[in-house]
Amino acid sequence: MPMSRRSLLTLAAAAAASPLASALAQGMPPLQRKANYRVGFAQTESNNPWRIAQTDSMRSEAQRRGDAFVYTDAAASAAKQVADVNSMIAQRVDLIFLAPREERPLVPAVMAAKRAGIPVILLDRRVDGAQAQPGRDYVTFIGSDFIDQGRRAAEWLDGAVNGSARIIELQGTTGSSPANDRRKGFADYIAAKSGMRIVASQSGDFVRDRGRQVAEALLQAHPDATAIYAHNDEMAVGAIAALEARGRRPGQDVTVVSIDGTRSALQAIIDGKMGATVESNPRFGPKAFETLDRYAAGETVEHWVKVPDRFFDRNNAAQLIGDAY
Ligand code: AHR
Repeated sequence: MPMSRRSLLTLAAAAAASPLASALAQGMPPLQRKANYRVGFAQTESNNPWRIAQTDSMRSEAQRRGDAFVYTDAAASAAKQVADVNSMIAQRVDLIFLAPREERPLVPAVMAAKRAGIPVILLDRRVDGAQAQPGRDYVTFIGSDFIDQGRRAAEWLDGAVNGSARIIELQGTTGSSPANDRRKGFADYIAAKSGMRIVASQSGDFVRDRGRQVAEALLQAHPDATAIYAHNDEMAVGAIAALEARGRRPGQDVTVVSIDGTRSALQAIIDGKMGATVESNPRFGPKAFETLDRYAAGETVEHWVKVPDRFFDRNNAAQLIGDAY
C-alpha cells in the first residue's frame, strides 16, 4: 500500500534527527553493518618501535575479529601514503584507518575517500583542520592530546631543573601534528618561565639516528646546553648516544625528557640516563575497531576519541617495563 504524504514526512523527520542522518547530510559515507569487514590501514613508516607496536595492535585486533586487513607502509613518504590510500579506494575496502604522516599533504587522500563513498578514521595524527573536518570529511580522530604531552614534558623538566635550563629541542617530522603540537605545548608552558630557554630546535624526523646526528651538531654549537627535550623516545635515545660521545653524562650533566614510553626509554630511565617520558599510547587496535562498530551502528561518534596517556619516570619505570614495546 502506498504511503501517505504525512507518513513520508514523519519518516523523513525521524531520519533527519538521527546522528547517522546528520553525518550523511554532511556528505559522510555510510558504513553498512556486517559480520566482518575489509579494512585498510595506511601506516606512515615502520622505522621505530612505536609504529611497529601500533601496526601490531591494529593487525591483531582485525585478526581477533575475523576482519580482513589491507595494510600499506608509506616508508616515510607522504606522496606514497596518498597513493596507498588511492589504492585502497580502488580495492573498495569498507573503511580506511589512516595515520596521516603530515597534516597538509594527506588532505587530498581523505577527500578522495569521501568522494568514493569510503569512510575514513584518522589514527594518532591529524590532517589540517582548515581543509578537512571530523564529522564532515572523515568520521573522527582517535589519538592523544599532543599539546598536553608537550606541556607535561615541560612541567616535569621545570621541576627537575628548578626552573633553570638551556634546552635543545629535537622536533619530530616537520609538518606532522605531533611535531607541531608537542612543540606548542612545551613552548607555551616555558613562555612564563624566565629561567627556561630553548637555545636550539631542529627536526630529527622522529628517527633515532637522525636524532643522534642532529643532537651532535646542536651540542657542538651549544656546549653549555643543560637539557634535551625530544619529541619522541627514539630521538632521545639517539641524543643520549650523542651526549656520551661528547663525554657528557646524560641524566647528570644534561637532563633528558621525551615522549612515547618505549622499552628503550624506560630502560634509559632505569639506568639514570633519561629523566622521564610522557606516554603516547600506540595500542590503537581495540579502540579503532570499536569506533568502526559504533559508526556502522549509527551512533554519534565524537569528533575526537581521546587516548589517555600515562607518565613514566624513576618511580614506575622498573615496575612497568615488562609491558613496554
Ligand atoms: O604520531 C606519534 C609519533 O609518531 C610517535 O611519538 C612517534 O614515535 C611516531 O613516529
